[in-house]
Amino acid sequence: MKFRHLVVSSLVAGSTVYAQTQSLWGQCGGIGYTGATQCAGGSACSTLNAYYFQCVPQPTTSSTSTTTTAVTTTTTSRTTTTTTTTTPITTTSSTTLSRTTTTTSTTTSSRTTTTTSTTSSTRTTTSSSPATQPTGTILDCLNSKSVPQALPGSSSFTFEARGFNLRLPFTPAAIAMPTTVPQVQAAVLCGVQYKLKITAKAGGHSYANHGIGGENGHLMINMKYFNSVTLDTTTNIATIGPGARLGNVAQALYNQGKRAISHGTCPGVGIGGHVLHGGYGYSSHTRGLALDWLIEAQVVVINGTIVTASATQNSDLFWALRGAGGSYGIVVSMKFNTFPAPDSNVVYNYSYNWNQAQARTSLEALQAYANSTQFPRELNLRFWVGVYNVQVVGVYYGDRSTFDAAISPLLSKFGTPASSSVSVMNWLNSLNNYAYATMSPPIDYDYFAKSLMTTQLSPAAMDAFVAYWFNTAKSVGRSWYMMIDLHGGPTSYIGSITGDAGGAYAHRNATFKYQFYDSVYSGSYPSDGFGFLNGWVNTVTSISQNTTWGMYINYADPTLPSAEYGNDYWRVSYPRLRSIKSLYDPDDVFYNPQAVQPL
Ligand SMILES: Cc1cc2nc3c(=O)[nH]c(=O)nc-3n(C[C@H](O)[C@H](O)[C@H](O)COP(=O)(O)OP(=O)(O)OC[C@H]3O[C@@H](n4cnc5c(N)ncnc54)[C@H](O)[C@@H]3O)c2cc1C
Ligand SMILES: *[C@@H]1O[C@H](CO)[C@@H](O)[C@H](O)[C@H]1NC(C)=O
Ligand SMILES: *[C@@H]1O[C@H](CO)[C@@H](O)[C@H](O)[C@H]1NC(C)=O
Ligand SMILES: *[C@@H]1O[C@H](CO)[C@@H](O)[C@H](O)[C@H]1NC(C)=O
Ligand SMILES: *[C@@H]1O[C@H](CO)[C@@H](O)[C@H](O)[C@H]1NC(C)=O
Ligand SMILES: *[C@@H]1O[C@H](CO)[C@@H](O)[C@H](O)[C@H]1NC(C)=O
Repeated sequence: MKFRHLVVSSLVAGSTVYAQTQSLWGQCGGIGYTGATQCAGGSACSTLNAYYFQCVPQPTTSSTSTTTTAVTTTTTSRTTTTTTTTTPITTTSSTTLSRTTTTTSTTTSSRTTTTTSTTSSTRTTTSSSPATQPTGTILDCLNSKSVPQALPGSSSFTFEARGFNLRLPFTPAAIAMPTTVPQVQAAVLCGVQYKLKITAKAGGHSYANHGIGGENGHLMINMKYFNSVTLDTTTNIATIGPGARLGNVAQALYNQGKRAISHGTCPGVGIGGHVLHGGYGYSSHTRGLALDWLIEAQVVVINGTIVTASATQNSDLFWALRGAGGSYGIVVSMKFNTFPAPDSNVVYNYSYNWNQAQARTSLEALQAYANSTQFPRELNLRFWVGVYNVQVVGVYYGDRSTFDAAISPLLSKFGTPASSSVSVMNWLNSLNNYAYATMSPPIDYDYFAKSLMTTQLSPAAMDAFVAYWFNTAKSVGRSWYMMIDLHGGPTSYIGSITGDAGGAYAHRNATFKYQFYDSVYSGSYPSDGFGFLNGWVNTVTSISQNTTWGMYINYADPTLPSAEYGNDYWRVSYPRLRSIKSLYDPDDVFYNPQAVQPL
C-alpha cells in the first residue's frame, strides 16, 4: 500500500545510511530516524529491513552530528563545532551500554561569519572559557558536561521538538541528545540544577505530545539513539533501548531468533513510551500487553544515579513503571522475556454495512462473546467503525479450520458480510498487514483522540452509544474512526494476570478497549470538534459507575480535567502510584500535565 522501497544505488557499499520509519509515508505518521545501519549499497538496501524501513541518505541536518553553535556577544564571538559519529548501541550482560563514539570538537575564539539567528533562545555568554564556567543557562550546563544537544534555533531543534500531534506544538527549553548513559545522568543533573521539568522522548508518538513535555519549557532528553535490540538466544531474553521503534523491535527479535513480544500495530511508535504505559495490539488477547513482557529496567532517577527495577530489585518502582513509567525517571535500557513468533497467523477482515438496529444487536453479541469461553485466547479481534462501514478484523494464532470454528458463533450473529478476506501468513507479514491498514493521512495533520475501557456496557449505555454513532457521528463531515478491541474477558491473557505481577496498569478487567479518533488533513482541528468525541464517550461515562470504566494513557487525551485524569487513567493504582512518586521524585521534576502527582 503505502509501502515504498528506496533504491539507494548512488550510495557506495558500506556507507552509513539511516533507516527511516516506513510510517513517515503511511498511516502511522511520526518523525525521526530509527538509527544508523550499514547499508551494503545498491539494491541490498531495499531488502534490508524490508518490512518497515527504507534506507535514505543520512540527513545533513540530523542531530547525530550536533549542530554548529554560534554564540555572539558584544565582546566575543565563538564557534564550536562538534561532530559525533556513533555506532549502534550494543548492550552486553546486564547493565552495560557500550557504544563507540568519536567526537571531534573545534573551538575557536576568532571572529566568525557563522552566527545563529534565533529568537529569544539564542545563547549569550560573556565568559571566555565557557567549557569550564557555565554561565547560568541549561545549554551551558549540558555543553560543559559534553552532552550532545539540538540547539535552539537549529533545524535539528525544530525537527526533534515536533510531536506527532501537530495540534499541540510545544517548545522545550533545551533538547539533550545523549548517546551514553553518563550523558543521560549528566543531563538529569543539569535539569535539576536549572530547575527545569525533565521529560524523556522515545518515539515521540504520544497523542498529547507528552514526550515533548506536554507544555513549553522542558528539558527534553531525547532517547532516540538508545535503540539497540539484542536477543540472548540462550535465555531468550531481549535487551532493548527505549528509543527503538516497534518495527525495529519486531524485526530484530525475529531475525535474531524467531522470537517476539506483544505490542501495538504502528511500526513507528517508540517502545519506550509504549511499554511504560501499556502496549496493546493484535497479539494482546493471546500474549498480553507489551508491559507484560518487561522484566527489568535501568532508570536514571532524580539524583542522577542508575536504579535497576525488577520483581526483585526496587519492585515498587518496577510496579509503577508498568503503567505510568514516564513519571519516575529516564529509562535507559529494558529487558524483556520473549515468546516464539507463531508461524501460522490467520489474518481476517469481515466488512458490514449495518443499520442502527443491526449495529445495536451486533454490539451486544460482541460483548457477550468477549465474556464467554467460546472466545479462545488465540483469537484477537478489533471492531473497527468507520464513517461508512464496520470491519471486524484481527489475527488468530493457529490454523485456518480452528479459526473458522472459533469465530463462527460470533459471525452467525452479524449477518452476511459485505466483503471478507481471510489469509494465513507468517508473523512478520501479519504485523505488516496491520501496520497502516486503517487510513493513510499525511504526516501534517491535526487530531483529537480519546479512549475508553469498559468492563460491561449496560443496555442503556449501549443504546445511547449506538444512537450517538448513527445520529451524531455519521453526520460529522470528517474522517473519524472508532475502534473497540476485545481486551479482557475470561480467556484473555491480559485479564489472567493479577496482583503486583500486573504492574500499575489498572484496566485488566476491561472487556472492551475503545479508541475514538477524529482528524483533519489540512488546516487546524476545529475548536467545536472536541465536543463530538467527548459527547460520544459521555454516552457511557455519564450513566456508568466509575468502577466499570477507565481510560488509556497511551491514547492520552490532554483535555481531561487535571483533577480527574489520574483516576481515569490509573483507577485503583493511582494512590499507590502517588506514594511511589513521592519516594522517587517528590519535587515533581519528571512532570507533564498528565503525570502522576506526588502526594
Ligand atoms: C500512529 C500511532 C499508532 C499507535 N498505535 C498504538 C497501538 O496499536 N497500541 C497501543 O497501545 N498504542 C498505540 N499508540 C499509542 C502509543 O503506544 C503511545 O503514544 C506511546 O506512549 C508512544 O510512545 P513513544 O515512545 O513513541 O512516545 P513519546 O511521546 O516519546 O513518549 C510517550 C510518553 O512516554 C514517556 N517516555 C518515553 N520514553 C521514556 C523513557 N525512556 N523513560 C521514561 N519515560 C519515557 C514520555 O515522557 C511520554 O510521557 C499509537 C500512537 C500513534 C501516534
Ligand atoms: C539516589 O536515589 C536512589 C533512589 O531513590 C537511592 O536509592 C540512592 O541512595 C540515591 N543516591 C544518592 C547518592 O543519594
Ligand atoms: C478490511 O478490508 C477492507 C476491504 O478490503 C479494507 O478497505 C480495509 O482497509 C480492511 N480493514 C483493515 C482494518 O485492515
Ligand atoms: C460476564 O459473565 C459473567 C458470568 O455470566 C457475568 O457475571 C458478567 O456480568 C458478564 N460480564 C460482561 C461484561 O458481560
Ligand atoms: C478485577 O476483578 C477482580 C475480580 O472481580 C478484582 O478482584 C480485581 O480487583 C479487579 N482488578 C482491577 C484492577 O480492578
Ligand atoms: C470514582 O469516583 C468517586 C467520586 O468522584 C471517587 O471518590 C472515587 O475515588 C473514584 N473511584 C475510582 C476507582 O477512581
